[in-house]
Amino acid sequence: MKVKISGGVLICSAIFCVSVATGLPVRQDARPEGYEWHLPKGFPEPLVPADNPMTAYKVDLGRHLFYDKRMSSNGMQSCASCHKQELAFTDGLTVSAGSTGKLHPRNAMSLVNVAYNSVLTWSNPNVTKLEDQALIPMFGTNPVELGLRKGDRFLPTLRADGTYRALFAAAFPGTTDPFTIDNVTKSIACFERSIISARSPYDRYHFDRDDSAVSDSAEKGEELFFSERGACFHCHGGFNFCDATVTKRSGPRSAEFHNNGLYNVSGPYSYPSPNLGIFEYTKMMSDVGKFKAPTLRNIAVTGPYMHDGSIATLGEVVDHYAAGGRTISSGRLAGEGSKNPNKDRRIGGFPTTPQDRANLVAFLISLTDQEVLKDPRFGNPWPVK
Ligand code: HEC
Ligand code: HEC
Repeated sequence: MKVKISGGVLICSAIFCVSVATGLPVRQDARPEGYEWHLPKGFPEPLVPADNPMTAYKVDLGRHLFYDKRMSSNGMQSCASCHKQELAFTDGLTVSAGSTGKLHPRNAMSLVNVAYNSVLTWSNPNVTKLEDQALIPMFGTNPVELGLRKGDRFLPTLRADGTYRALFAAAFPGTTDPFTIDNVTKSIACFERSIISARSPYDRYHFDRDDSAVSDSAEKGEELFFSERGACFHCHGGFNFCDATVTKRSGPRSAEFHNNGLYNVSGPYSYPSPNLGIFEYTKMMSDVGKFKAPTLRNIAVTGPYMHDGSIATLGEVVDHYAAGGRTISSGRLAGEGSKNPNKDRRIGGFPTTPQDRANLVAFLISLTDQEVLKDPRFGNPWPVK
């Protein structure tokens, strides 16, 4: 079957279409007029901005851009350099390095289920749309990530590439010049929203009622996680294990940020600069050290942990919470995090046995969705050179 779309011809079988222009496979639900989420049990429909509806053509274009090193000024990096699929779209580093080699002050965040995040990045309350967030790594100067500059060769380079001519025409039919930064960020946002992760052992246990999917230890860990003693669920609750969650049904929501007692350094601020949390934006002393509580899905593969990657393992994360905050005994960062004046009162510490701690770690590991880490729909679409 041939389907004519403005900008190209697709040859379609029952499931796949192949773009004549690019020779690349495009899913059939890629029709410009619609998108099938194929959402798993327990997962509500994400909130999508009215001016950027999902289409599989945009997802396809966004995936090509996400993996394209021409997205950086010196051809050294793409989004995928710091957001690697096999690490649930993180980079495994304490803090990331931009295309110029300069370090980012913070740890790269996972992009799984990012469609459900009501606020983006660790601590910027003003970034709520993926379309806006993409501009930060593309054009940001402090820190430099991809290092693009308005008016540089980036858009002409895309326009000169036959694959992109077909992809942009299919994604934005009926426009005379689809090669705009706005369309670049819209497509990348569509690709990011398509990365839904819900196939962990915990999902099989919880949503499919398959008791054999997780160990007894993980079940006990789940109990502690959702108990008032452990208190984790207060900030990492719901189907996405994150309290900054938004869905189509909920509509836009403001997010909460919390200080979880990582630091209590001496000096004017209790957290080390430049990572002062939402204080950077609100300038209120009571906001120093307040960060987003990120999703815990796939947490076993996204270490090191916290906004600055300062905790190496899940065992140490659990020790941190059990102690009600982190104590650093010497050096520049010395201080008792448990006594931070802004610490959330729910980080009170709780008595644990080594078995309790192992159970909690087993539960966190059961949130790993092995399939999302290798699902070809989210992988590099470019031929390997
Ligand atoms: C140099 C490494 C690097 C590159 C390149 C990079 N990122 Fe990131 N990403 C990060 C870091 C670090 C954070 C945390 C930023 C912060 O808190 O300020 C982040 C955060 C994010 C978030 C927020 C996730 C959340 O849950 O709040 C999104 C979305 C994102 N990046 C998408 C992208 C996209 C899209 C690109 C390409 C256009 C990209 N990133 C390129 C390192 C990188
Ligand atoms: C009061 C809210 C709150 C509670 C309760 C809480 N957390 Fe957190 N959690 C956070 C915040 C905020 C961060 C990020 C802090 C930072 O980076 O400075 C975080 C970070 C984490 C991280 C690292 C995430 C990443 O991507 O690096 C893990 C793992 C984690 N928490 C697990 C737990 C567990 C397990 C419990 C229960 C024992 C728990 N949390 C209780 C707010 C909370």
